[in-house]
Amino acid sequence: MSLTSYIRTIPDYPQKGVKFRDITTLLHNPVGLRTAIDQLAERYRNIPIDHIAVIESRGFLLGAPLAYLMNTGLILIRKKGKLPAATIGEDYDMEYGTSTIEVHTDAISPGNRILLIDDLIATGGTAEAAVKLIRKCGGEVVECAFLVNLPELGGNERLREIGCPTFSLCAFD
Ligand code: PRP
Ligand code: ADE
Repeated sequence: MSLTSYIRTIPDYPQKGVKFRDITTLLHNPVGLRTAIDQLAERYRNIPIDHIAVIESRGFLLGAPLAYLMNTGLILIRKKGKLPAATIGEDYDMEYGTSTIEVHTDAISPGNRILLIDDLIATGGTAEAAVKLIRKCGGEVVECAFLVNLPELGGNERLREIGCPTFSLCAFD
């Protein structure tokens, strides 16, 4: 059964014309949640990863249990103003707005091999900004992995253009 069947769609949220793919229903379902985390852990089981970077807020929910299973630490990529120590930031556009994400400047060491995790890729604006932040700190993004891909919004192509491989557990056409 595709993981899409655990995810509900809310029309016109947060603005008219957006089909919001609501993962709270997958998170609520023990089989859905476990299947998603186990599939990610299986994919990266034999790939050397130093840290998992997670994007606020829904990315945290998938990246934290994955880091626990993979025995790696977490790097938090947060919305502007949420991280307490010295940060660098990156502005970006997404499907329904603009934003800024930040990371602690001491969270990534040069040469670190990082797996980037978020719940969903739409336009790819958020993930591209996260990759840029990691690279500015000297980190290498091994792959960007998502629970959901929305292919019609072109995020994968956008990341391919900056040389970053992507992987998604499921997609809504
Ligand atoms: C959502 C989602 C991704 C991003 C994808 O985050 O969790 O991070 O949008 O869109 P994009 O590919 O067009 O950039 P949102 O900013 O809504 O934050 P949230 O996780 O805190 O709800
Ligand atoms: N983030 C960006 N676009 C989204 C969508 N259509 N559904 C859920 N999260 C999103």
